Amino acid sequence: MIVEPAPAKLNLALHVRARRADGYHDLETLFAFVADGDTVTLTPAAHDGFTITGPFAAGLSGEGDNLVTRARDAFRTTFGSGDRLAILLDKHLPVASGIGGGSADAAATLRGMARLYGAALDDPALMAIADRLGSDVPACLVGRTMIGRGRGERLTPIDAPTLPVLLVNPGVAVSTAQVFAGWDRIDRGPIAEGDALTIALAGRNDLEPPARALAPAIDTVLALLNAAPGVSLARMSGSGATCFALFDSAAARTDAAATIRTAQPGWWCLETNLA
Ligand code: C5P
Repeated sequence: MIVEPAPAKLNLALHVRARRADGYHDLETLFAFVADGDTVTLTPAAHDGFTITGPFAAGLSGEGDNLVTRARDAFRTTFGSGDRLAILLDKHLPVASGIGGGSADAAATLRGMARLYGAALDDPALMAIADRLGSDVPACLVGRTMIGRGRGERLTPIDAPTLPVLLVNPGVAVSTAQVFAGWDRIDRGPIAEGDALTIALAGRNDLEPPARALAPAIDTVLALLNAAPGVSLARMSGSGATCFALFDSAAARTDAAATIRTAQPGWWCLETNLA
């Protein structure tokens, strides 16, 4: 049995540079990962199975139409493994929320199968599968702080500090394709030179304006995070609606989480750290 963590992905900065002829967008982004997320468990079994548990299990489609089973099938096509697998996805990350949930789950499935069947995690064939599954899956496969270019699949590692972070989602799912389609097509320039914190602090998320137009609750999330004592940066991740805040101390993060949970008991809050 293999238990593979599928941590949440953050875009500490996300600069959209150009709309491409293939409908995707060229971007420059600073990917980071946190210590918590979903979990994928792979158990060799007599028959294939796929079960979803956890607080966000409802609303996810099962066998055949989930990135997890698509990752499993793609791995088998490439690496030719014949074993049947019972796969359990324990879903703790909100769905369609800008923190990579489905991409993280697909990447964890690929990592777990690579471990089970002895493929190298840096095998270019594994990376090629990740790339076909989605723009964020290669970053989630590597799972460390990196600059992403192209659709997000051209990756350069960069060192990053371990900082307390709070993730907040107002319970509104937003479509990534719809948010990208709302980008105003104005190139506001590249990410900064320098270390990860410099890039994050000097950066922006160009998908915030179109996401806020679709989900005005993001305004409220960012206002609450920006008002919290000890915040060094508050920003939306990916295409939203989850926002993150980086804090000076774990105590400041805990106080902010308590304040937000009291003000908005229906929202999802995760107190964690940059990994
Ligand atoms: O690659 P993925 O399937 O995750 O992308 C979902 C949608 O997000 C794409 O169909 C596209 O509309 C949009 N997208 C984009 N540019 C990117 C990544 C995603 O336009 N770099």
